[in-house]
Amino acid sequence: MGLAGAGWTLFVAGHMAGNMLIFAGPETFNRYGHAIVSNKPLLYGTEAFLILCLVVHVALGIILTIENKKAKPKKYAVAANPAKRSSLASSFMALHGSIILVFIITHLMTFKYGPEYLVEYGGETMRDLHRLTLEVFSDPLYVVGYVICLILLGFHLSHGASSVFQSLGLNHPRYTPVIKKAGFVYALVVAGGFLSQPLYIFFFM
Ligand code: HEM
Repeated sequence: MGLAGAGWTLFVAGHMAGNMLIFAGPETFNRYGHAIVSNKPLLYGTEAFLILCLVVHVALGIILTIENKKAKPKKYAVAANPAKRSSLASSFMALHGSIILVFIITHLMTFKYGPEYLVEYGGETMRDLHRLTLEVFSDPLYVVGYVICLILLGFHLSHGASSVFQSLGLNHPRYTPVIKKAGFVYALVVAGGFLSQPLYIFFFM
């Protein structure tokens, strides 16, 4: 489950960094999007990899949640020692994971399968994703929805990024706290970077 999640953990960092080109102007952003969709082996390879990772991650997540419920049908009368209590992020993994899944489907319908505005640069026609992105994030409802989902993504990543190491059995009293901090910083950078896009577009573009 951790390894399947790691595929998406890497993808979101690349996607966030690429999206930063929205601030470089319409031509740069649209040419970037066009270069990606024109490279069919890269596009189909990435899509197949992401679908596989998502199916494995979600299926194992459902199995794990059902098994946890079966193993502990009633809540303990006394709360666990705070030091041993799982973090807020880990307790809500199934909840924010499910919301992120709905977000991904909505996101693909909005952008990938959204309106096909076209633009021409130097005789080459391509999708005007810049126009679509600005249009989407001029709607306050979308912006609020994105902000909530991206914050949840940050929580999910923060716990997930460090859990990969635990799944691989790489647990060490000295290194585990460092890994957890690194996971938190990674999540902060990715979610923060993503958040800057709808917020900047809504308020300043
Ligand atoms: C502010 C945040 C985001 C913006 C502005 C954004 C923008 C976009 C755009 C414009 C596309 C269409 C690319 C194309 O069809 O050429 C796209 C595709 C996609 N986005 Fe996002 N995105 C954001 C956040 C996310 C997040 C958080 C996830 C995952 C959790 C995600 C997952 C995807 C996926 C899987 C695709 C399809 C990639 C493919 O077809 O291979 N995006 N995004």
